[in-house]
Amino acid sequence: MIVLGIETSCDETAAAVVAGDRRILSNVVLSQLDEHRPYGGVVPEIAARAHLNYLDGIIRQAMDEAGLGFDALDGIAATGGPGLIGGVMVGVMTAKAIAAVYGLPFLAINHLEGHALSARLTDAPDFPYLLLLVSGGHCQLLVVEGVGAYVRLGGTIDDAIGEAFDKTAKLLGLDYPGGPAVEAAAAAGDPKRFALPRPLARRPGCDFSFSGLKTAVRNAAAKLDGEVLSTGDAADLAASFQAAVGDVLVDRCQNALDSFSEMYPDAAPVMVVAGGVAANQHLRNCLGALCQRRQTRLIAPPPELCTDNAAMIAWAGIEHLRRGGSDGLDFAPRPRWPLDESKDAA
Ligand code: KG4
Ligand code: ZN
Repeated sequence: MIVLGIETSCDETAAAVVAGDRRILSNVVLSQLDEHRPYGGVVPEIAARAHLNYLDGIIRQAMDEAGLGFDALDGIAATGGPGLIGGVMVGVMTAKAIAAVYGLPFLAINHLEGHALSARLTDAPDFPYLLLLVSGGHCQLLVVEGVGAYVRLGGTIDDAIGEAFDKTAKLLGLDYPGGPAVEAAAAAGDPKRFALPRPLARRPGCDFSFSGLKTAVRNAAAKLDGEVLSTGDAADLAASFQAAVGDVLVDRCQNALDSFSEMYPDAAPVMVVAGGVAANQHLRNCLGALCQRRQTRLIAPPPELCTDNAAMIAWAGIEHLRRGGSDGLDFAPRPRWPLDESKDAA
């Protein structure tokens, strides 16, 4: 089984061809970073136009690198939401057109499900497993019980985790996108210099909160002398922020692992971390230490499959296609689409 995947829900224009035996035949990602950098964040209108301009060429490149024609495919999968609606429309319309011309099944994939199932492309864990999804738009803990069966344990009550990294970077005068910039700055910093809060730590449940942490970074920066932060101060603040985020993730994941064991007393615990923030090495180390303590297998897909890509969308398409799933050409793109809710719900 071979499926073309298309991802256009944020600022990456991506196409990939994946086979049912878990081979990635091509995985092309065009990042629009340069288009959005002057604005310090993703501008939806610019993103939609860029997807429109580049998607055809990216799909052509993905097919060429796979060495296949459209007639060799068994299905076309595109992100159907959640995300910036203009971009999602571009991807969905393109996928529907190819599916209609070649008489192939069309699959509208929930972007979050793409992240949730990406570990099965790389490491093939059995269901159920615990998923920590940490990206620019999301921060959630879920149990993946099966394809299309997700139980939400908790999520952020304010900012997404990637957003917290991006806003902190802005505050510290670092580059866009903020996550990698904060991580790079933190490498030279003292994580103990600033005592920042660990929001919701030691409370029951699996929810997250990051807005107070962001405010604490701003207040700490404001107390320092001078108009502009010195490189050393920025590094110490970045390191202190990253340490706080690591502690928070570990605290929340501990509760999630407890819930998982109660829900599935007979299942060997497996935790998957996915989403762009999972590229952060400090956070990976924190989760690695936690999983070692808890005798839990930790699966962290390689960074290029953690950040937005179309291979995960193609793979989710394969998982659905195998179970007889496909979508009608009347599928309407969904700006909001919680993972623990069926496709047909409003
Ligand atoms: O999953 P993703 O590529 O797109 C979304 O679906 O949101 O995640 C992008 C987010 C951005 O907020 C970016 O700053 C963050 O992931 N990110 C990182 C790192 N690399 C990317 N955050 C922390 N450390 C990193 N190394
Ligand atoms: Zn994503």
